[in-house]
Amino acid sequence: MTINEKAYAKLNISLDVGRRREDGYHDMVMIMQTVSLADDIRIDINGSGEISALSNLPFIPCDERNLAVKAARLWFEAAGRTEGAAISLNKRIPVGAGMAGGSTDAAAVLRGLNRAFDSPLSKEELLDLASKTGSDVAFCLCGGTMLAKGKGEVLTRLRDLPDCTVAICKPRFSVSTPELFTKLDTRPGRHHPDTVGILSSLEEGDLRGICRRMYNVFEDVGDRRMKVVAEIKSKLIDAGALGAIMTGTGSAVFGIFSDEADAEEVIAPLRKEYGFATTTRPVGKLL
Ligand code: C5P
Repeated sequence: MTINEKAYAKLNISLDVGRRREDGYHDMVMIMQTVSLADDIRIDINGSGEISALSNLPFIPCDERNLAVKAARLWFEAAGRTEGAAISLNKRIPVGAGMAGGSTDAAAVLRGLNRAFDSPLSKEELLDLASKTGSDVAFCLCGGTMLAKGKGEVLTRLRDLPDCTVAICKPRFSVSTPELFTKLDTRPGRHHPDTVGILSSLEEGDLRGICRRMYNVFEDVGDRRMKVVAEIKSKLIDAGALGAIMTGTGSAVFGIFSDEADAEEVIAPLRKEYGFATTTRPVGKLL
């Protein structure tokens, strides 16, 4: 049996970080959005009793460090099945971009396996496995537009983002997530996104109101690489974006456009200068 599943990328419409908790993690308040840019996941069910993975990118680990492998192992254990699976990951989402590439592959494995075996696990059970796999996996499993709190696993569904085109650009460097959290902890005072304002703009279907308020606290940690992020943001705004921010801990930056042609036009020059750029669209609820 072969299962094919899309693993959609995630963007942060906003990202706020609270204090470091006892367990070393930080409490987050984020508005998250699924977009059509996706990895293709193929799962071949076999009788080996083992989970294996292969990817088109040679530098991606294919052992237990790969969240897709971890998620598959958890699913087989919880569903009480012993078959085993060979997972193929065709990666299109840039790695080290803040777009939840690893988490969304894991979420796609959970959705795909559960669908193929006629839903032995409930949505709640899948969400529990997702949270055990990684912080962003639960959101990637559900998809659409959501408010995420806690480590990212406390989810509330929101009204869909109004129709728009998104231009994403990732510069050639990546940023270490733990390093940015540490920088944020040692920085006195910080701006916070107007999460409440974004929530009411979402409720009203007011794209301009959402875009005007988009904000990611990690852009403000005093990291020198954020200069490049600011440069890309300016280019997106100059091209007609209603708003532009970095997603997650970066390094990808995106702009939201009401005019698709404006978004398409900025891709070629961004790709030439920074390496990766593409347009994408919001995707709604997945589960
Ligand atoms: O979730 P992920 O494994 O990508 O997180 C990497 C690191 O980022 C964690 O080990 C932790 O240091 C930091 N982190 C955090 N608070 C969160 C999520 C991640 O401090 N909510």
